[in-house]
Amino acid sequence: MKVILLGTAAGGGYPQWNCACAMCARVGENCPPRSQDCVAVSADGGNWLLLNASPDIRSQIIGTPALAAGPGPRQTPIKAALLTDAELDHTLGLLMLREAAAGLRVFAPGAALRALRSGLPIQGITGAYGGWDWRIAGSGFETEGLRVRVLPVGDKRPKYARELDIEGPWVVAYRIEDPATGGVLVYAPCLATWPDGFDEFVTGASYALIDGTFYSPDEMAGATASGVSQGAQRRMGHIPMAGDDGSLGRLRRHPGVRWAYTHLNNTNPALDTTSAAYAEVRAAGADIPVDGTELTL
Ligand code: MLT
Ligand code: MN
Ligand code: ZN
Repeated sequence: MKVILLGTAAGGGYPQWNCACAMCARVGENCPPRSQDCVAVSADGGNWLLLNASPDIRSQIIGTPALAAGPGPRQTPIKAALLTDAELDHTLGLLMLREAAAGLRVFAPGAALRALRSGLPIQGITGAYGGWDWRIAGSGFETEGLRVRVLPVGDKRPKYARELDIEGPWVVAYRIEDPATGGVLVYAPCLATWPDGFDEFVTGASYALIDGTFYSPDEMAGATASGVSQGAQRRMGHIPMAGDDGSLGRLRRHPGVRWAYTHLNNTNPALDTTSAAYAEVRAAGADIPVDGTELTL
């Protein structure tokens, strides 16, 4: 299975266009720029799935030779998109893909699919350009030669969906297995907590790409002087790396898995490879890969 990390930042990317925080100002050699979270996966190197559809999808595709259009004049190797949730940074890319011929398959949790019909009507809008195949991810499915398992991981809904009468689960994680190689990718960019069942879900995985939005439980307040309390940061639905309940303490229990963080927020000090935060992540056995990282599992 081929895996390409197209983007590794949280919503807004790194740097964020309207942010002059210390981290955004520091973008450069030790703090590489990052586009918004999106991954491409393929069993055969010719047919690809997207994991989430970021607002940066056009430049991510154009910059990735494996995803180049062809071989026919209006063909694309991108066959399906798997959405973990209905957040803007994970779904707006679908609007950029509206030129896709009919038949693109989109898998998402049921609540996210409903939100994409009402609060953010991407299903109706793209339907006017060509019919796509929208499917509830359920507990699992097979697509493009890959076996996918789905784990509900939370009920954090997008801001635009606050008033919608839709029951969760709103957020899922995917476990994608290539039956030919036995390679397993776990993709969980939005984890409010270390969820029930996640330890079992990652057991035996070759590579687990998890929520790296925040390093510390209270970094929003300090970084942007925004007065965001620790409770308010916690309600954003992202387990921090550090701290008593952080993900670093949990992932250490699975030394056989290659751990990596994605969906980094522009406030995260671990964006800087010279920081103590980055060193702690590396010491725990985890990585913070850059955009464009390619893996074979
Ligand atoms: C999130 O990951 O919490 C959301 O994408 C936040 C947002 O950008 O609206
Ligand atoms: Mn996000
Ligand atoms: Zn910033």
